[in-house]
Amino acid sequence: MQDTIDIAVTPNIGVRPLSLACGAEISGIDLSKPLSDDQVRVIKQAWNKHLVLVFRGQDLLQDDQLRFASYFGDLGIRKKAPEALRSRNEGTVQEANKDADKVLLVTNIKVDGKPIGAFGDGEFWFHIDSGYSARPYRYTFLYALELPSRGGNTMFSNMYKAYEAVPASLKERLKGKKALHIHEYNRAKQANSSGDISGIPHCFHPVFITHPDTGRKTLFVDRLMTTRIEGMSQEDSDAILGQLYEIGERREFIFEHEWKLGDFLMWDNRCTIHARTDFPKEERRLLRRCTVEGEPLYE
Ligand code: SIN
Repeated sequence: MQDTIDIAVTPNIGVRPLSLACGAEISGIDLSKPLSDDQVRVIKQAWNKHLVLVFRGQDLLQDDQLRFASYFGDLGIRKKAPEALRSRNEGTVQEANKDADKVLLVTNIKVDGKPIGAFGDGEFWFHIDSGYSARPYRYTFLYALELPSRGGNTMFSNMYKAYEAVPASLKERLKGKKALHIHEYNRAKQANSSGDISGIPHCFHPVFITHPDTGRKTLFVDRLMTTRIEGMSQEDSDAILGQLYEIGERREFIFEHEWKLGDFLMWDNRCTIHARTDFPKEERRLLRRCTVEGEPLYE
């Protein structure tokens, strides 16, 4: 499958769809070099169409990654939880990083028994990066530096397709409704919003949002951090959210990325949710993440 997005303007760029759900591989671009406006425009066009872009075989310093991300907006500043609620160590290398406010080391590596970064081992349920904040990150960029021999795949679900699959009667019932997103500090356990959440980062967003760039409607809930729909009994809300999670995680909407060293991925958090598969915890996994700030979201 080949894509023909603006190839006349940038003849060396290839765009190859990777699944029927979402995801495309971009070839012909070295992200370690500054890019032209035409290159950035073609990438943006491909991104809006495929939601997740994969660049293979990149050799990227942290500054290269941040420069590239900044073509797409203001770099995201990490949203740290209040100290008392942080169950994860920030990581020794993470803390020492000159751009510690913008870069997150996603890793299970420990040195002298101390984690050097965050998000550790194992499975990670489907989620939206910082969906619990008033301005969830627009984009996330992740670069593979060390990988386990198997597993640790990142899965992306196309939430435009999920929205389309929501039955019309349910769409009608959820019109104008917002859902509560709350920061979850575990990776495979739903956030709990039953107690006092005043000290925990949280935010209500519309269940369906209009993507600010494409104008398309998308489903904006995730299993890890969305806990209740406003104005409904907990029982009704649980049942509906369960139905929405099932739709959002249908296999046919998912692209699963098997990482190779040097892979660089970028995804749009307004129209995808993502998850991570388990991997052997005795093997090292290290990826470097940065983000672009988002904006308030509207139905
Ligand atoms: C993340 O959810 O931001 C990390 C994904 C991964 O480790 O593959």
